[in-house]
Amino acid sequence: MSILDIDIIQRYIRTCNDGWLQGWHERNGGNLTYRMTPEEVAQCSPFFQEPGAWVNMGVTAENLAGEYFITTGSGRFFRNVILDPSHSIGIVEINDKGDSWRIVWGLEDGGKPTSEFPSHFMNHSVRKAATNGAYRVIYHAHTPNLIAMTFTTPLTAKAFTKALWQSATECPVVFPGGVGVVPWMVPGGAEIALATSEVMKTFDAAVWAHHGTFCSGPDFDITFGLMHTIEKAAQIYNLAMASGQGKILQTITDDNFRAIAKEFGVTLNEDFLD
Ligand code: 13P
Ligand code: ZN
Repeated sequence: MSILDIDIIQRYIRTCNDGWLQGWHERNGGNLTYRMTPEEVAQCSPFFQEPGAWVNMGVTAENLAGEYFITTGSGRFFRNVILDPSHSIGIVEINDKGDSWRIVWGLEDGGKPTSEFPSHFMNHSVRKAATNGAYRVIYHAHTPNLIAMTFTTPLTAKAFTKALWQSATECPVVFPGGVGVVPWMVPGGAEIALATSEVMKTFDAAVWAHHGTFCSGPDFDITFGLMHTIEKAAQIYNLAMASGQGKILQTITDDNFRAIAKEFGVTLNEDFLD
């Protein structure tokens, strides 16, 4: 028996590999964090090592004090997660102030959590609060079609949500709240973490201009599925715009959206309908 046999670790590794297979994780691009349940911590803790030193994050979230997260390593490659988990991923514990982490398993040979850990951490904090603890996953991927859209579409939640909803009929059912947008910012620090967590107070997904996508959800299936749905809609949008040379002859109308919402029992964000 090894920690790698534990279900939550297996499912985390599978999700990383699924993202790699989609082509969203060139080199060390992208990162995934999961907030563990107390039962999962108990299952994994016999395999924990002597903890590392506490490292301050530059951001604080009191509602995450004492939590444990599985995280990808900074500079480590999604492509290698399935082959070499103990170097590619790790588990960190959060201190009782909610401002520092320490490594308790994995990230071997001097690894540390993703450089986007502050963004993940603040997003976990707001999604945990907004969902009464249900949300556990934050996923950042370098999704090429959505990134391409950030060069051609106004950087507003309304413009992105409308374009994506109109690109695939199921989109308003999968993300009825829409997607938020964070303008271009320097990645990897407290500033982009705070800007993203502001957006995540309202949305399950945030577009990072000219960089990628952040998605949140209760489990890996829903979160990965959200990323996949958004990216596929962006692909359809780009194909339609390119093949039509920017001319759209017909699309899904706002009344069509209202009919979908009624049929599927979802509440659409009315800010995005005219
Ligand atoms: P890390 O290797 O530190 O996770 O950074 C990758 C990335 O996507 C930065 O936004
Ligand atoms: Zn990135």
